[in-house]
Amino acid sequence: MKVLVVGSGGREHAIIKSLKKSKRVSKIFAAPGNGGISCDAECVQIKAVDISAMTEFAVQQVIDYVVVAPDDPLALGMVDVLEEKGIPCFGPGKAAARIESSKVFAKDLMKKYDIPTAKYEVFDSAKKALKFVVSDNAAFPLVIKADGLALGKGVIIANNSREASEAIEAIMIEKKFGESGSNIVIEEFLSGPEVSVLAFTDGKTVLPMVSSMDHKRAFDGNKGPNTGGMGVIAPNPYYTQDIAAICEKTIYLPTIRAMQNEGCPFKGCLYFGLMLTNKGPVVIEYNCRFGDPETQAVLPLLETDLFEIMEAVTYERLSQIEIKWSKASSACVILASGGYPDSYKTGFAISGLDENGQSAEEAVVYHAGTALKNSEFLTAGGRVLGITTTAADQNKAIEKAYKAVKTISFEGKHFRSDIGKY
Ligand code: AMP
Ligand code: GLY
Repeated sequence: MKVLVVGSGGREHAIIKSLKKSKRVSKIFAAPGNGGISCDAECVQIKAVDISAMTEFAVQQVIDYVVVAPDDPLALGMVDVLEEKGIPCFGPGKAAARIESSKVFAKDLMKKYDIPTAKYEVFDSAKKALKFVVSDNAAFPLVIKADGLALGKGVIIANNSREASEAIEAIMIEKKFGESGSNIVIEEFLSGPEVSVLAFTDGKTVLPMVSSMDHKRAFDGNKGPNTGGMGVIAPNPYYTQDIAAICEKTIYLPTIRAMQNEGCPFKGCLYFGLMLTNKGPVVIEYNCRFGDPETQAVLPLLETDLFEIMEAVTYERLSQIEIKWSKASSACVILASGGYPDSYKTGFAISGLDENGQSAEEAVVYHAGTALKNSEFLTAGGRVLGITTTAADQNKAIEKAYKAVKTISFEGKHFRSDIGKY
């Protein structure tokens, strides 16, 4: 099988490394990929959102299967276009991708089908939203969310009506996130540990993967701005078997049935962003794709052939397969460029990697933002590398990851030193 993986981050590198182990896969292309990915796949310089160039390439190269990993090509309908050309894909079509690309769609779905989530109101005009946040109905803190995709930055927690008004103005009037902010959701603030659960689903059957814990803030102690994720441990220690059983019954199955009922069955990886509140688990967000960096910690624990699972999703026979997971734990520590998630410089040489972009330590290095020039790896993004280790014991996995982190350097290297110390 000739497989094309769309995307260029650490998540895509983890997917590619996992697919490389499959007996069914003979050749992997990545578009556009990155420096480290080029050691495991042939990189093709096509932007992840360029649907026509991607389709042309897939047709010309007679690609057998395409994995569309990032949110934007999914939201733009890349899977629908490729499937029209007869190329099977992993990932939802445009209608099902709305579960991530429209928070209004996701919230209304949960309300209609009684799936636990924060109480909310939708506003389609700044005037009405501004009126609401100064009314007696507004109980602070409140959470304000842009409807559409906003690079993970479209969520603002407002502690009072002034902060709420500023957020509404930034999203709806100044259009800080473009058309994503034409509608907003204002919802109640909840608290509790957060859990990421990625699940394979073919639209009928849903098979959750090992749970994980992301660390979204930039600095130790959960301080600083939100990032795409600074590190992950898997499994998530808060996610007990009892909680998993509740989630299965009240969240996972109802979501799959709801999407079916709405005429847009979800096929691919559905990401449940959960919060364990004192009233039980609730959905904070859905993503229509593998999480980044959750994937870098979860896939190393997968013992079943990933390609076989992906095919079972595409051909709707997930109920017929058994997915095996290692009982071990994993930890992934992200090395980022100094300044990330705000402005940062790139182009710095990375030391401590061999010619395949790997470490001499017992760890797997997933490349998120690197370039390979004259046999040297250079920084080329905000998140640069994800260092993943596995061990029977979670603390051991974390310790091993930090041991490897010490041996890799570049100017401005920034990482959190408290991954897994919840
Ligand atoms: P989202 O992009 O929807 O996942 O939101 C990003 C982060 O904002 C989440 O991981 C939470 O930490 C926080 N958040 C979102 N919604 C709420 C909420 N209703 N209450 C408290 N925190 C929230
Ligand atoms: N790590 C969060 C996400 O993938 O959205």
